[in-house]
Amino acid sequence: MSYKSIAIDGPSGAGKSTLARKLAGELGFLYVDTGAIYRTVGLAAFRRGIDPSDGGQVTPMLPQLSIEMCYGGDGVQHMLLNGGDVTEEIRRHEISRCASQVSALPEVRAFLLERQRELARAHDVIMDGRDIGTVVLPGADVKIFLTASPEDRARRRYAELSERGEQTCFEDVLRDVVQRDELDSSRTAAPLRQAEDAVLADTSGLTLEESFQLLLHIIEERLQR
Ligand code: DC
Repeated sequence: MSYKSIAIDGPSGAGKSTLARKLAGELGFLYVDTGAIYRTVGLAAFRRGIDPSDGGQVTPMLPQLSIEMCYGGDGVQHMLLNGGDVTEEIRRHEISRCASQVSALPEVRAFLLERQRELARAHDVIMDGRDIGTVVLPGADVKIFLTASPEDRARRRYAELSERGEQTCFEDVLRDVVQRDELDSSRTAAPLRQAEDAVLADTSGLTLEESFQLLLHIIEERLQR
């Protein structure tokens, strides 16, 4: 039996995870947040006090890591690092940058590639990230490139961080969003870019429900083909 796969790529803060989780619930697919996996590797580097941008330090750490994903009853993807639940910790502001840095290392990407593909071989998946439609699942049944203006994306990220009680200011978050996009798009290893056969969805100015309906429409239309 072959499984269906939906790839959602795009820059940070475009609403990928919120929308992908909601869509997975609606369609009965497994939701895979690949950013959370890179964040877990970033956290591991941070905890060990090693430079996340230095392949010479990060690569020897990889075989020592046990990274697992499990799902709560609510469909939330929990990340376990060496047996400890790090789901909340990987969302911290400082870990975002570590994640972006480790994700630019080809060794890290190679280490995680097969694991992501395995999930798609065993389930109907909706997977979000930066290179799902271009590298991880080039044969995905539906590919969406989800974006929104930097200000809209920073506003969402800022609201998320404030909700979690993290002290930060909007300008810092906006600067960070722009820098991280630059880093994710300019790296040589699997940079963030729209696959040729991906549908571009811009959610600037749309509510969550409107964005959800837009994506659901694209997916249903493509899956029927
Ligand atoms: O989606 P996110 O912000 O949680 O992702 C964290 C970092 O991981 C982001 O800076 C880019 C990187 N990433 C990646 O390079 N490839 C993916 N498929 C997913 C995330």
